[in-house]
Amino acid sequence: MKAIIYHEVGEVDVLKFEDVDTPEIGDDEVLVRVKAASLNHLDLRLRAGKSPRPVELPHIGGVDVAGDVEAVGKNLTDLSPGTRVVIDPTVKTPKGPSVIGVNFHGGFAEYMKVPASNVVPIPDEVSYDDASTLPICYVTAWYGLYDRGAMQKGETVLIHAAGSGTGSAAVQVAKEGGAYVIATAGSDEKLEKVKELGADATINYNTSDFAEEVKNITEGKGVDLIFDQVGASAWDNNLKSLKATGRILLIGVVGGGQTTFNFGPVIMRDLSVLGVTVFNAPRQNLINVINLVSLNRFKPVIDRTFPLSEAAQAQKMLEDRSQFGKVILNP
Ligand SMILES: NC(=O)c1ccc[n+]([C@@H]2O[C@H](COP(=O)([O-])OP(=O)(O)OC[C@H]3O[C@@H](n4cnc5c(N)ncnc54)[C@H](OP(=O)(O)O)[C@@H]3O)[C@@H](O)[C@H]2O)c1
Repeated sequence: MKAIIYHEVGEVDVLKFEDVDTPEIGDDEVLVRVKAASLNHLDLRLRAGKSPRPVELPHIGGVDVAGDVEAVGKNLTDLSPGTRVVIDPTVKTPKGPSVIGVNFHGGFAEYMKVPASNVVPIPDEVSYDDASTLPICYVTAWYGLYDRGAMQKGETVLIHAAGSGTGSAAVQVAKEGGAYVIATAGSDEKLEKVKELGADATINYNTSDFAEEVKNITEGKGVDLIFDQVGASAWDNNLKSLKATGRILLIGVVGGGQTTFNFGPVIMRDLSVLGVTVFNAPRQNLINVINLVSLNRFKPVIDRTFPLSEAAQAQKMLEDRSQFGKVILNP
């Protein structure tokens, strides 16, 4: 089969489009014919050797995958070839989660093998492309906002990097849940699109001080909850943007993973700082977002699709921050 494989970490040119052996399945495994595999910022960090979860080389990435069951192991009687599925990438182990596409080969390939317990059927009305955006971005948004952030209807939520795959999902999940959404992004063009997704107010964090803007928009009150994918460079302004008893969800670190921590405002204003890892989310979150997409309550934002052979070009798009929403490979 054809796959995108890298034998060393580095720039996008380490990604090679090669012939590799089609995986052989075990008795409890499923062979999936990949139809769509969406890209995540995580793929860039893994390929560059900058992830805290390093991969074993050579590696085939691809964490977010949808396709058809091609073959099933001997022990499996309730799954038949042809079933349309999305892959839940988390393999729970006693030592914590292992991740398909990180700890095992993923879906940037024509076929992949997964444990049977990781395939989740999708209804006909959910396309493969849409399904491939759900396991990371939409589940992170759901798990973060609801399970970790305890978001309530009517709350004001600040969502950073709202043009990213995860940010565009979070805007839709927060609006669906009845929040007032203030969204940030790095260009006015992205902010126009974020408004079309339903954001109530937008801020360009490259051309303005977002804490000042939040203050103006909320008439000095601040926000209840922050969905933060930026990290260190946004930290001080995030604390200034929260109202007393506000919560901040630490999702990503595109703007740096370390900063100095001033305990004062957190203690004195009863703030809560909450970590979020999608790989700890319950399976039910994925089922919820599949259902909501099938009911047209969310519409995943897909910027562009590429053939598998153009994976390097697709990853470059993310690296250049030029995408809005998701970028997908179709083997
Ligand atoms: N905790 C979890 O379980 C979890 C799950 C999913 C994602 N994440 C994290 O969330 C973040 C976003 O992931 P994603 O896959 O949705 O990303 P993505 O689609 O690749 O988008 C990332 C966006 O971040 C913005 N950004 C702001 N500052 C940046 C900087 N210094 N360098 C690069 N980009 C910057 C850019 O948008 P602008 O041009 O608008 O600034 C960029 O397009 C990543 O850190 C990822 O690791 C974490």
